[in-house]
Amino acid sequence: MNAHSEMGFGTMSIHSGHHKDAEGALAMPIYQTSTFCFDTVEEGMAKFAKEIPGYVYSRGGNPTTVELQHKIAALEKGEACVATSSGMGAIGAVLITFLKAGDHVICGECVYGCTDFVIRDTLTKFGVEVSFVDTSDIDMLRAAIKNNTTMIYFETPTNPTMKITDISAVAQIAGEKNIKVVVDNTFAPPPVQYPLAEGADFVLHSITKYINGHGDVIGGAVIGNREDIALISGSSSSKLCGATPSPFNSFLVIRGMQTMELRMERHCKNGLAIARYLEGHPLVDKVYYPGLESSPQYALAERQMHGLFSGVMSFELKEGIGGMTSYEACRKLLNHLELASIAVSLGDPGTLVQHPASMTHANVPKEKREEAGITDALIRLSAGLENIEDILSDLDQAFKKIDL
Ligand SMILES: Cc1ncc(COP(=O)(O)O)c(C=O)c1O
Repeated sequence: MNAHSEMGFGTMSIHSGHHKDAEGALAMPIYQTSTFCFDTVEEGMAKFAKEIPGYVYSRGGNPTTVELQHKIAALEKGEACVATSSGMGAIGAVLITFLKAGDHVICGECVYGCTDFVIRDTLTKFGVEVSFVDTSDIDMLRAAIKNNTTMIYFETPTNPTMKITDISAVAQIAGEKNIKVVVDNTFAPPPVQYPLAEGADFVLHSITKYINGHGDVIGGAVIGNREDIALISGSSSSKLCGATPSPFNSFLVIRGMQTMELRMERHCKNGLAIARYLEGHPLVDKVYYPGLESSPQYALAERQMHGLFSGVMSFELKEGIGGMTSYEACRKLLNHLELASIAVSLGDPGTLVQHPASMTHANVPKEKREEAGITDALIRLSAGLENIEDILSDLDQAFKKIDL
């Protein structure tokens, strides 16, 4: 039998990380326990001292969560993973474990609103210097590096503007200077994109999104080399600051991951079809989706995202539709959708739409938001798994209602 790492993605999503428990259960049981008993004080001491393996307390480790971590590490082709109670928990874990006062971080100019807040406001409060840079521009990135730069953090594609950064080009520059490269891969998880294979040091996920894929869990994960992940899970955020997932949520994500290949194929296929529909619509000004041949980043996205791209896109409405402001036109379009839900997540079975300027990125200062391309006319859409004809006819009827 092949080693799991040599198997196909669909096979790995089902089998990697799994080992039968003592009772031979096929599905990993939910170890819904806060603590683990020791037969003797000596055994407890030895487990605390890590002289013998074994669980002691679920904030530090739990069998259901450990299976999830093995599975995510295998899918991202990483050595190790630590799962967290949210995507923000994963981001916080990396930042507080590997940064200290006096360090300089380069952050992509367009990132998820809460990430922007933590990096812009919270890190600076602790004496970390921060620059926001368009990391898709490698020359600009190179020019922003200082003697004290220790981390480059970015999303590719960016939320919500779908800009692509060349991960291997960034990793090459960073490698020359011993700078850690952290990629938030939430929008393009495997089998779409593999940042570690491109040279990144860490991959982060909001597993709330595609990895769980069913819209019923908040969770996160960090994947990297064994030593770095041990630093996070053993002594920093996840254990001591407590960003640990519940065993029940770990179980749900393990369950969701088993259909990941099928789901990602459908999300991406629907995404491309919707992006093409929007591109041809007379009320749409611009579509941001790297899988469109008209995208200036198509060639890079094709290579880096293995021709799958993502199910997420954003688009801008034309100005002055029906004499309305951009915001009013967006509001009206979204309110008229009947199948798609207005909600701020992505990667769920159902199609979701939201208005970043007033929702996910409302806390980013307006001028910074607009510099990053998050205008009032921008709508983000996450293609669901519905039949494509139904998604398109929903969009069609909503567009007709704003163009009366
Ligand atoms: C790209 C990206 N990273 C991180 C997060 C944070 O994840 P969570 O909501 O699971 O904390 C989000 C949430 O939308 C996101 O879109």
